[in-house]
Amino acid sequence: MTASNGTTSLNDRKATNSAPSADLGARALGDKQFALTAQGADYRFHVDADGELVHDYFGAPAPGLAPWESRGANGWGHKQVDERREFPDHGRGDFRLPAIHVRHGTGSTVSFFEYVGHHIIPGKPKLPGLPATFGTPEDVTTLVVHLEDKRSGIKADLSYSVFPKYNAITRSFTLTNGGTSTIEIQRAASFSIDFGSGDWDMVSLSGEWCREAKETRRKVQIGTQGFQSSTGHSSHYFNPFVALLPSTTTETHGPAYGLSLVYSGSFNVDVERHAFNLVRASIGLNPLHLSWPLAPGESFTTPEAVAVYSSEGLGGMSRNLHSLYRNHLSRSSWTQRERPVLLNSWEGMYFDFTAEMLYTRAKDAAELGVSLFVLDDGWFGDKHPRVHDNAGLGDWVVNPRRFPAGLDAFVKTVNELKVEGGRGPLKFGIWVEPEMVNPSSELYEAHPDWVLHSGTHKRTEMRQQLILDLSKREVQDYIIEAIGKILWSAHIEYVKWDCNRGMHELPSPTTPHAYMLGLYRVLESLTTSFPQILFEGCASGGGRFDPGILYYWPQSWTSDDTDPIERLHIQFGTSLVYPPSSMGCHVSAAPGEQVGRTTPLLFRAHVALMGGSFGFELETEKMSAEERAQVTEIVALAERVNPYVIHGDLYRLALPDESNWPAALYVKPDGSSAVLLAYQIYARIRIDTPLLRLQGLDHAAVYEIDGVHYTGAVLMHVGLKLDWKPEHLPAADHQSKVLFINRV
Ligand code: GLA
Repeated sequence: MTASNGTTSLNDRKATNSAPSADLGARALGDKQFALTAQGADYRFHVDADGELVHDYFGAPAPGLAPWESRGANGWGHKQVDERREFPDHGRGDFRLPAIHVRHGTGSTVSFFEYVGHHIIPGKPKLPGLPATFGTPEDVTTLVVHLEDKRSGIKADLSYSVFPKYNAITRSFTLTNGGTSTIEIQRAASFSIDFGSGDWDMVSLSGEWCREAKETRRKVQIGTQGFQSSTGHSSHYFNPFVALLPSTTTETHGPAYGLSLVYSGSFNVDVERHAFNLVRASIGLNPLHLSWPLAPGESFTTPEAVAVYSSEGLGGMSRNLHSLYRNHLSRSSWTQRERPVLLNSWEGMYFDFTAEMLYTRAKDAAELGVSLFVLDDGWFGDKHPRVHDNAGLGDWVVNPRRFPAGLDAFVKTVNELKVEGGRGPLKFGIWVEPEMVNPSSELYEAHPDWVLHSGTHKRTEMRQQLILDLSKREVQDYIIEAIGKILWSAHIEYVKWDCNRGMHELPSPTTPHAYMLGLYRVLESLTTSFPQILFEGCASGGGRFDPGILYYWPQSWTSDDTDPIERLHIQFGTSLVYPPSSMGCHVSAAPGEQVGRTTPLLFRAHVALMGGSFGFELETEKMSAEERAQVTEIVALAERVNPYVIHGDLYRLALPDESNWPAALYVKPDGSSAVLLAYQIYARIRIDTPLLRLQGLDHAAVYEIDGVHYTGAVLMHVGLKLDWKPEHLPAADHQSKVLFINRV
């Protein structure tokens, strides 16, 4: 079937009478062929005559698809390197990066994982000790393919699960050492897909502290290109995600594939164009932080990777990920609930507060209609009080000088405050950073051996802190107990869990993954003990914004940069992978702390409305009566918009990287209504502002916007005229609109 020059397309394939694509789920198609079929996607592979798994196809439904035919070995051709391999191992002629690379007890690194059997399970089993997607037998089916390297006795079970509604296929694998000597796992990519030749682009999210989630699109060139985190966390630098798209795909049109790793630690993404121009993409654990020994009888399960497909461009890919993650990954009792508007003490107070000052701020918050008051850093430590960032981390006891009556008594005074507008008692939340320790702390004095360290190497401090070794059971137990004690001690309804540095001076390359397993054990324990608490992840902003964290907690702090212009880029970027419901977004003072820009309060608020957890970090006592009135209105607006952000489908109508008028539309799943958030970054004169074409509406339906009726077709094909005349003179820059759209 395949020409010897290697280029192939769907047209090259022979039609067969395989099962129609209406057969959703995981299926074996007769003679060792497998189909993972979703509503809008098909994933196929088969076992060849040698027992190798060969990848056939991933893309739009293709009923009648025939298996990929091997080119065979000829001349300088090697069967392995010219093949689309489903689970590439190493050492037998595939000169590309493998999904699995083990060093056997003999020292050899050659493996041949051949097919020995398979079975299909309705639903989806849990992954031991790891976060993963979940669902009932109605939502998902799982195909487990059993492979074995017969010379060493190592078994690999590949678990594929298909969520037909979201065009999502997940994969992880378990290695079991059935041999007689200890092996070492050098590389274990959860997903590896051979996409074939053609023009491909890759899209990734990268950044820095205060500059997270910058979307970058580049051509897939010959050779390897990829990125990694070796910080021990998913990191600010790169996110554990990559999209592959034909170069013609746009935000709204064309095939788009997203690969996302359900993991919060060091990871690796490789995209490699090699022989015959074939492109392989893989995502998984970072080999620099692995070298995992596996003794006879032991097993090792990789984190889960998710692959989604959309024929509706990057926007469709994002919506598939959002829906999958909201419905089948994030399992907090808060995931599907609207979030309380909050006021966080950090930017308005930093470490400089007393219980009286906090109470005044809380009282103010309640008067403004804010429902949750969050006490950020600075409340703990006795012998080494946390009144600056040099001391106290690790000592999770309330500072008795700041709270002479104790934390419980303080929280009671907060809960006694009634939130304006009949919103009930003011809720209380607190900040913790349990994975860290300041050398100046009672914990470090008692347990200097509990931190990550490597022999006599200097224990490098960052922000005057060291990182606890969560691979140790006693450290996990300490955190579970110390944090549990605080959470039991008072009526705490929200927790911001911070993590402000990366890992170095590691005792072993295996430590970061063992640390993650330890962290997940801690999170499992605390979220199970406190299911009602709303947890928010944070790592100096968005340094650990990943699907692993989303499994436990419904939201993460998106960035320490709250400047609205910067935030537009960060939030639109983050939304490429993560549901907007998971973004924490706050309104801070102007000029802003981070870039010093002055912007209107309303613009800052309208930008923060994009996220599921909306809040303020303002010095409320310093606000004018006019600003207070505006904040009260903003709170009411946030409560109106929030259901759309929590439950709606996001359409990125215009991107801040490309347009002066970025816009996001959230459409309720039943299509009955939507909310449009539209922005003008700079004022422009004598320019015909483009009409804003909406998406996701019903062509035939009639919609009402600000008293005017439009058909869905007009809104989507012609567009909406937004009037950007300067309303907030003298500054006409940074304008914004929130428009509610209702089907008539
Ligand atoms: C980190 C967080 C901030 C704040 C401080 C407190 O930087 O990202 O939001 O909580 O820690 O020290």
